[in-house]
Amino acid sequence: MKIIRTANYEEMSTKAAQFMLDRIQTNPELKLGLATGGTPKGVYKKLIEDHKQNNTTYKNIITLNLDEYIGIDSSNLNSYHYFMKEQLFDHIDIPSTQTHLPNGTAKDLLEECSRYESLLKKVGGIDLQLLGIGENGHIGFNEPGTPFDSTTHLIELEENTRQANARFFDTIEEVPTHAITMGIASIMASKEILLLASGEAKAEAIHKLINGAIDESFPASALKRHENVTIIADEEALKLL
Ligand code: F6R
Repeated sequence: MKIIRTANYEEMSTKAAQFMLDRIQTNPELKLGLATGGTPKGVYKKLIEDHKQNNTTYKNIITLNLDEYIGIDSSNLNSYHYFMKEQLFDHIDIPSTQTHLPNGTAKDLLEECSRYESLLKKVGGIDLQLLGIGENGHIGFNEPGTPFDSTTHLIELEENTRQANARFFDTIEEVPTHAITMGIASIMASKEILLLASGEAKAEAIHKLINGAIDESFPASALKRHENVTIIADEEALKLL
């Protein structure tokens, strides 16, 4: 795993956007795996700025997000569908038919998991997957204990994950208890992975990722078996290394 150290969140976002733009320029038909949460917001802002200044086009890009809450409609402000539109899709020229997220309100959720996993294969696999990391080492919503051979599946969110995400909701009760997420195997099938981490709250997770064992109790540790992972993280997130 290659580590790129940055001074702060701003620089992490700039470097990550440059990294992604480099891949988009090399392959204008890139299949791009995306993440939500606080970490990638700055990157999306930079991509939007670049789109306005340099006209980088996303007309032939296909995006596939990692996850979505269960039971929250795409028009709900807290859904990841809404987040992605607001933070990125509405501000670049990507056709909406080329942006994909799991449907957390599908009637048959198991069927939805298979549909999404097949979609990953149908598009030819993800070229570059952007990841954040949970304080407990989750990637996507793969909580500790998720099998490394898991594909897109339903998951019950850990209490600390719900608490960490409660900042986006009015009350903790509103945070969904379940989500649909690409599995560890789905993520590992990506040709390249870019993991971002910022802030002291992620320092322990990054320390464990770099120095700890490869074990299902720490989902991100699976990434050590991937041959093309880059971590861009700021000083605070790297402070225990
Ligand atoms: C989001 C996702 C999660 C987040 C992680 C970190 O799509 O899959 O794994 O990347 O929970 O979240 P933030 O960036 O809010 O600290």
